Amino acid sequence: MTTKPNEKKPKMIPIFIMGKRFEVPETLTIMKAMEYAGFKFIRGCGCRGGICGACATVYRKAGDYKLLSGLACQTVVEPNMYLAQIPFYPANRATFDFSQMTPAPEEIFKLYPEIFRCVACNSCTKVCPMDVDVMDVIANLKRGDITRAAELSFSCIQCGLCASRCMGELPQYHIAQLARRIYGSLIAPRAKHLEEAVKTIASGKYEDCVRELMNLDEATLRKIYQEQEMEPEMTGEEWAPKDKKCL
Ligand code: SF4
Ligand code: SF4
Ligand code: FES
Repeated sequence: MTTKPNEKKPKMIPIFIMGKRFEVPETLTIMKAMEYAGFKFIRGCGCRGGICGACATVYRKAGDYKLLSGLACQTVVEPNMYLAQIPFYPANRATFDFSQMTPAPEEIFKLYPEIFRCVACNSCTKVCPMDVDVMDVIANLKRGDITRAAELSFSCIQCGLCASRCMGELPQYHIAQLARRIYGSLIAPRAKHLEEAVKTIASGKYEDCVRELMNLDEATLRKIYQEQEMEPEMTGEEWAPKDKKCL
């Protein structure tokens, strides 16, 4: 980490990574602090932007009995934080042939019978870094409401923290992912306009336009891109560009 000539150096604070003490700048995220301390991520690090779910971390603060958790790439270090990474959590993941799947809740119950081991303790919801109401996802599935479970779990990034805290030993994130797959493929209404667009593409209607673009040099392509007519942010369904050559 480098500082510019007139930039104030950040204060150094002690943190404990897997039991060993390190001094790190207080401004860093857990992930950057671990790298600053000399650790190299070969697992447990992906997007660095809070999206991929690879960097689950559990930690305690000195003098506090609570076990806390977060994403290493999003959580800023605090003095005397005791932390460890859990880049993978061994949660049961059912295998199945999705082409044989039906939208019946029993499909989920058959693959994940442990769903009925949930004791509604809410630990999963409390630990989720994405504020998914995990317990409610499971409760809705138990009632057979796949649609609601899919909606509620939409922000899940598969970090596995919920499963790590579950006394019923449920793999909540795998169960919720199956619910979203069933919802997306078998319950959500089909988008008619998308079907029509795919048919139009398959008919070869745009072939000439695409070939024309493929034969252009880079500078011309850039010019066309920069000068293209952009769809206004707020527009009705009737909007169409003035140049309709490739529509
Ligand atoms: S639901 Fe579970 S796996 Fe998904 S983001 Fe929350 S804690 Fe992570
Ligand atoms: S942690 Fe497990 S047992 Fe507790 S509410 Fe969540 S799914 Fe149910
Ligand atoms: S590295 Fe992807 S969520 Fe942290």
